[in-house]
Amino acid sequence: MNDLLINKTTAFFQETFGRAPEKIVLSPGRINIIGEHVDYNDGYVLPAAIDKIICFAFEKNYTNKSKIIAIDLDDSFEVDLTTDMELTDNVWTNYLRGVINQLKSKGFKFDGFNCVFSSNIPVGSGLSSSAALECGFLFGINELFDLKIKPVDIALMGQSAEHWVGINCGIMDQFSSVMGLENKVIKIDCKTLEFEYHDANFSDYSLILFDSNVKHSLMTSAYNERRQQCEEGIAIIKNNFPEITSFRDCNEQQVLGLQNLMSANVFKRCLFVVKEINRVKQACEALDSGKIEVLGQLMFETHEGLSKDYEVSCAELDMIVDTLKKEEAVVGSRLMGGGFGGCTINLIKKGHEEAIKKKLSALYFDTFGIELKIYDVKIGNGTSLYKNN
Ligand code: GLA
Repeated sequence: MNDLLINKTTAFFQETFGRAPEKIVLSPGRINIIGEHVDYNDGYVLPAAIDKIICFAFEKNYTNKSKIIAIDLDDSFEVDLTTDMELTDNVWTNYLRGVINQLKSKGFKFDGFNCVFSSNIPVGSGLSSSAALECGFLFGINELFDLKIKPVDIALMGQSAEHWVGINCGIMDQFSSVMGLENKVIKIDCKTLEFEYHDANFSDYSLILFDSNVKHSLMTSAYNERRQQCEEGIAIIKNNFPEITSFRDCNEQQVLGLQNLMSANVFKRCLFVVKEINRVKQACEALDSGKIEVLGQLMFETHEGLSKDYEVSCAELDMIVDTLKKEEAVVGSRLMGGGFGGCTINLIKKGHEEAIKKKLSALYFDTFGIELKIYDVKIGNGTSLYKNN
């Protein structure tokens, strides 16, 4: 599937510019096993890069301008690199303008280039197509002009580009897109950015994504609001327990004891964050020791928390998880990513995948009149050069 994408992107580049590209970059989307909405709360997360990617083709053009073409959108834009970047109404271009803005503001020197790209990462499904876009684009410019930016800094600058566009996201998506490794999940300490790879061995279970195929428009504002509520919460916690420096030092009892000092929402958000940080630690141990049923149970608990306490779920995602919870062959299921639509991540006993897919799709369509989308993802490598050139 990715060979087709690479051929298509390269051929398009050749037809448009009359030459083969100088660099081809592949940049993946991500899944997250567990650890949701804790990356911006100094927690731990357990994501992995996947085999759905954006393919970019680049060349230098020896001018001060860059031309960038999105093949799938049949759209393009040009920027004069000597001017300041500004946000526009054409949202996809803003992620790339954000990257250029980052490079310029950090003093990196580079000239004009041409870039075309095409993707098989579903957009708006919680698979971080925007992180793949930012990091792949930045990676390509870094290679083209030999800027010597380290992988972790590519992730951090990608995150800053996303902030510039308007979502005050954590580091998980960009970090996993850049640092992913085939068949490994990454445990990231989002406070220190230390990380370790763990085998993604789900033994008798298959990892399958069910995409609700809905995207509720609340996402950006609600996301930023959750982040603010957590900042409010941790400030109250620190005031009362001076020894606590972040959510990871805090236990449930301490949050419960502060209920009267917090608004109902801030209290619920804090309780979720503290529990979720602990779940990630347990989940990682369960994965390492092959206790996939334990991992699955923790995933169900995460969903419950995201739905009731963090309030980032929606009727469609709840329906998927509630339905699957009743299936003996489904050991874990939860909404994945920011929420308000997008995918659930599910662990299904091998041999039962097709029956569950069929049953859920029919029920989902009957309930919402919406087609369920299904992805069997593989865990792949992070952003890299395609070595065929
Ligand atoms: C989005 C953000 C991430 C993370 C998740 C929720 O994907 O980009 O930084 O906060 O939501 O876990």
